[in-house]
Amino acid sequence: VSVGVESENAMKVLIFGGTMFLGRHLVEALLARGHEVTLFNRGRTRPELFTQLEQLRGERDGKLEALAQAVNAGRHWDAAIDCCGYVPRVVRQSAALLRDAVGRYLFVSSVSVYAEFSQPNTPEDAPLAVLSDLASEEVMRDYGALKAACEREVATVFADRSLVVRPGLIVGPWDPTGRFTYWVQRAAEGGEMLAPGDPHAPVQVIDARDLAAWIVAALEQNRGGVFNLAGPVGGCSFDDLLSACCVAAPAAAATTVTWVSAEFLAAHKVAPWSELPLWLPHDDGGRFTADIRRAIDTGLVTRPVAGTARDTLAWARANPNAVRSERHPPAGISREREAQLLAEWRMARAR
Ligand SMILES: NC(=O)c1ccc[n+]([C@@H]2O[C@H](COP(=O)([O-])OP(=O)(O)OC[C@H]3O[C@@H](n4cnc5c(N)ncnc54)[C@H](OP(=O)(O)O)[C@@H]3O)[C@@H](O)[C@H]2O)c1
Repeated sequence: VSVGVESENAMKVLIFGGTMFLGRHLVEALLARGHEVTLFNRGRTRPELFTQLEQLRGERDGKLEALAQAVNAGRHWDAAIDCCGYVPRVVRQSAALLRDAVGRYLFVSSVSVYAEFSQPNTPEDAPLAVLSDLASEEVMRDYGALKAACEREVATVFADRSLVVRPGLIVGPWDPTGRFTYWVQRAAEGGEMLAPGDPHAPVQVIDARDLAAWIVAALEQNRGGVFNLAGPVGGCSFDDLLSACCVAAPAAAATTVTWVSAEFLAAHKVAPWSELPLWLPHDDGGRFTADIRRAIDTGLVTRPVAGTARDTLAWARANPNAVRSERHPPAGISREREAQLLAEWRMARAR
């Protein structure tokens, strides 16, 4: 149970975003602690949320007038949280506008910023990806290098007043990608479930609510710096994750898990990550093993994956229309394709 701060310690926090997934949990965590929240977004994603809060409307790329007006009127926030920054040119606009209007600028980046993933336990000071085309704004193609460039924009303006958070895979209720949710729902459907590749492969996921709790505490403690925020290293294998999903499933589902080799799946043109989410057959061990000691030393607490799976299943059942987002390609394979692959896998093994 979160106990709120004394009202004289309540922070004023401005959030770019705040209505889809991580941002939504951040707003809820801030409000639960008694902080005052202002939202800046376009009013497209779930505008019915948080109507009790101050809402500044605008497109963060070039249409920051509502925010500029507030800044010119002398508004000041203890912190800004930038939850939807993907392009350095755009992040530069909000950072420059808020230079003297916020105490701290928190940029939500990603562990994808690192230049390479060949080694496990990537620390925060590992080399970062650089754009091969400095003018690129291709977020799908250059996501990690663009996030790294956004971090630099924030550092240029805010220096030690910046806080950069690099999450690993974020999971839990309201996840618009359907990736973790695929496994939770699949396990709950019961029967024989196809699992990809190596059961011992590391998987590092962080519940959006645990991430939000760390972020709020870090702001309360006025922390600066750069932090990886992900699940425990070595604490979760793919097998552990799927077992947690099965534990969260209704007992009647009686799901069994059949591991199918990466070679077989490649031969059958099953696409890693999208068709079988969280499966990274070409990973050398670095993508899901970010070093999180710095976050743990500053209070990160991660809940067991089974708890996240249980809550994600309950959310998915209560909000079927929210599970699939138009902005993300559908994650997972159909039951028909799964059954066919399993039948062929059995035949191949019998030969
Ligand atoms: N999912 C993962 O596994 C993962 C992993 C690592 C890092 N991350 C990072 O974590 C963050 C996740 O964000 P989220 O989507 O969950 O955040 P969110 O704050 O819950 O949702 C995105 C918000 O941004 C607003 N927005 C989008 N484009 C905008 C624009 N052009 N101008 C103004 N507002 C805009 C949306 O509202 P409107 O549509 O109404 O404008 C919405 O409120 C991202 O920065 C992502 O890179 C995610």
